[in-house]
Amino acid sequence: MDDVLRLLHMPVGIPGSGRVRYGAAMELFQRGVISEAQLDAYREASPFDSRDAALLLSDRGLPSVPRLATSPTASLLALFDVARDYLKTLSHPGAAEVRSGLGRCVQSGRSLHARPHPIAARWLEVALAEAARSQPQLAMAIAAAAPHLAWVSYDGYRREEIGDRFAEGHAFASLAGSDAAFAADDFELGLFLIAPGVLYRDHCHRAPELYAPLTGPHGWRFAPGRPLIIKPAGEPVWNPAFQPHLTKVGPTPFLCLIAWTRHVDELARVLPANDWGALEALTLAS
Ligand SMILES: [Fe+2]
Repeated sequence: MDDVLRLLHMPVGIPGSGRVRYGAAMELFQRGVISEAQLDAYREASPFDSRDAALLLSDRGLPSVPRLATSPTASLLALFDVARDYLKTLSHPGAAEVRSGLGRCVQSGRSLHARPHPIAARWLEVALAEAARSQPQLAMAIAAAAPHLAWVSYDGYRREEIGDRFAEGHAFASLAGSDAAFAADDFELGLFLIAPGVLYRDHCHRAPELYAPLTGPHGWRFAPGRPLIIKPAGEPVWNPAFQPHLTKVGPTPFLCLIAWTRHVDELARVLPANDWGALEALTLAS
């Protein structure tokens, strides 16, 4: 992949570079990494060695192509770009709020300290194999950046309320916010991973929230005691402030991009329900 990206990003002006960039773009198209519209921009620019196809993409409102990740920081920046472009394509009631938050993100310049996590070590690769079927560019960017991310467990819940299985069965890594390559005032974007079969019990928080699941199907509900709704990969879930929500992970690990658009420092809280035992024992069909 890096070799192809190196060719795609060959500097403009070098004799023959227009055709080299187009050849690399064709390879990426065949791998499902870029779209036909993105490929067209490279085809049109190919006879002109000094023409930057990236400007054509921008003029046409098309997503940028993956950056060449030559360092840990570059891989984190590349992931942010691809994640932002993907989130902007999603339609949901909070789209404007998410777009505004993404627009406020700036490179933080922090020195980042990678932190491995047992759940990421065990389940991320499995999740990415599934995610790559619908979002190959995003899956590749996550795979490249994952070893450089600071993976943590969310510690805002009391263990007896959230349960051992969730407490020990999830991992989160910030892409924009605290301890991340990007910072934004009162906005947080990250990757959220939960092991197969785990129940993330009913909870709510003041922060409006977007889940953008890259795997599925998984079960959801939006009030304690209600039946589960099964949602596929790719269907965004928007939780307005204080809306209760629960996730029952299906047979593949749950991997999503998650954004909190305001009040990011206020903790989530568990909401009681009397059917968690049954939901924890339940196995969803694939
Ligand atoms: Fe939430």
